[in-house]
Amino acid sequence: MLDELNRIRKSASLEIPAAHSSERLEALRIQFLGREQGALTLILRGLKDLPESERKKVGAAANRLRTDLEILFAHQRETLKKGAGTSRLLSERLDVTRPGIRVRRGHLHPITQVLRKIENIFLRMGFTVAEGPEIETEYYNFDALNIPDNHPARDMWDTFWLKPERVKSERLLLRTHTSPVQIRYMEKNAPPIRIISPGVVYRYEATDASHDIEFWQIEGLMVDRHISVGNFKAVISRFFSDLFGGKVEIRLRPAYFPFVEPGFEVDVMCLQCRGQGCSVCSKTGWLEMMGAGMVHPSVFKAVGYNPNPTTGGVQGFAFGMGLDRLVMMNYKIPDVRLMRGGDLRFLKQF
Ligand code: PHE
Repeated sequence: MLDELNRIRKSASLEIPAAHSSERLEALRIQFLGREQGALTLILRGLKDLPESERKKVGAAANRLRTDLEILFAHQRETLKKGAGTSRLLSERLDVTRPGIRVRRGHLHPITQVLRKIENIFLRMGFTVAEGPEIETEYYNFDALNIPDNHPARDMWDTFWLKPERVKSERLLLRTHTSPVQIRYMEKNAPPIRIISPGVVYRYEATDASHDIEFWQIEGLMVDRHISVGNFKAVISRFFSDLFGGKVEIRLRPAYFPFVEPGFEVDVMCLQCRGQGCSVCSKTGWLEMMGAGMVHPSVFKAVGYNPNPTTGGVQGFAFGMGLDRLVMMNYKIPDVRLMRGGDLRFLKQF
């Protein structure tokens, strides 16, 4: 019996401190001290069958062992509890010196970036921003701008016509330029006028690297008594100089647009070669930037303005500029279709 007790003491003192989970520890407690089949319990239960002399000795030794085991169990339980605390501390450790996880933010589309810059330049010169609808009527897109039906000038704009063919007797289309905003604004406001009007326009044509069916324009309109081409040159020179930084050379070439007279095309001296001729300007030394001109008297008549300066009427200039090409030049973008392609590899570069 005493041998048996020694054997239990030996294995218990090895196994209890090695128990690394509370489940394992509980299993050991049942193995040694369990009320039904515990090794020590069985010995204690067998005491009554022993002769008197031996019963005392074995009983005392068995009780000592029980106390020692209980201390061992209590100690190990304590160790496990502390250990659990430590491992939680370890697993939830926070290294405040580590670099943070970067929050990815988007950014403005290159067109929007350049547009904001352009708007700011004109706002500083006293212009305000006016907008108009992308679905227009034939009247605002053409007729009021001195482009009557069957006028050959309508061929200048390949148009998306909308169905149904007429809404309240008006034919609807996707505006081919921002010029209809001139009409809409003048109908509602009296001169003097200084506005720019940015927006998307549409042309029904085949797309390639330099043509898209959808692109941005910025319209400009200044109307007052005695506004001249001189005023236009001053405003537009200042605009290009501010936009490109530094003095920029411009030139006006005669051009035809039905809603202006005289009309011109505005060129900027090539920023790449300073007029020497290079691949950017197709060896001409100049970059074509916008259409412009003095507002045609028929346009003033269409909105109810007096177009005769000698009887107190007004004069003014208007211009229309493609924004996509400006942005493409600015960032050396080779294909206009990238602008609306939604390709993040492209967009992330700006
Ligand atoms: N609307 C013209 C176009 O789209 C540009 C323009 C605007 C020309 C204003 C003259 C005056 O081609």
